[in-house]
Amino acid sequence: MDNRPIGVFDSGLGGLTTVRRLMQVLPNEDIIYLGDTGRVPYGSRSRDTIIRYAMQDAAFLRQFDVKALVIACGTVSTTSMEALRSGNGELPIYGVVDATVQAAAAATKNGKIGAIGTVATIKSSAYEKGLQRILPGVQYRGKACPLFVPLVENGRTEPGDIVIETVAAEYLEEFRQWGADTLILGCTHYPLLDRVIGNYMGSGVALIDAGAATAEYVAGELARMDRLSGKHAAPAYRYYVTDSTENFTALASLFLKTDHLGPVSQVSLESY
Ligand code: DGL
Repeated sequence: MDNRPIGVFDSGLGGLTTVRRLMQVLPNEDIIYLGDTGRVPYGSRSRDTIIRYAMQDAAFLRQFDVKALVIACGTVSTTSMEALRSGNGELPIYGVVDATVQAAAAATKNGKIGAIGTVATIKSSAYEKGLQRILPGVQYRGKACPLFVPLVENGRTEPGDIVIETVAAEYLEEFRQWGADTLILGCTHYPLLDRVIGNYMGSGVALIDAGAATAEYVAGELARMDRLSGKHAAPAYRYYVTDSTENFTALASLFLKTDHLGPVSQVSLESY
């Protein structure tokens, strides 16, 4: 048993899609979330910069004596895991890649798996390497979809919205033509587009939500290590951001799908 909180971080507020799923599968766990909203987006930055930011994010959360770190950010998970693990001793650190490739490998029937994510995520080839490890011979295609993040943050997520449907068709056409039967949604924001993407790709294509797959994986791992919380009181949720709390609060309900957020504070990561 381990009653300490779980730390979760993301480049911004998209990681709340993972937090939402963590709350569902681990309803007794306290969660401390850091969203680096002052420096988002990470996905268009260089690998060195992303690693530097990720190390600061992790150092910030470590001051709360977290029992595990969940990297909700697809960009950080695909570029910075090695640095994060080697710089943080024994602390269990979970990115989104491992659980996601397992879910995708289990879902595919024709062995054609696509992945979409930020520019940095696709450039890292992390999904391709992960898939090849567990499913040698798998066919893979990846595509960066940089317009999805700002569109989601502007609320353009609904089927029937001509703007998001046009952009989605342009990004996804090659996967449909190619005949992918599984598509990894490798960015925090994309689960909010699941209906738009699902409608375009068709019901025969499995969409793998990286954050959801990871939340379930983390729940299994904490149970396996006997590190689940034994508390029976309502769990505590705490949020930290690096830009204004108002902007975060205004958009958080879109990702968390609840108006009940919990305390939010603005912090600086400069000294970490
Ligand atoms: N959170 C990022 C990800 O999942 C998307 C936003 C960004 O580019 O920072 O890759």
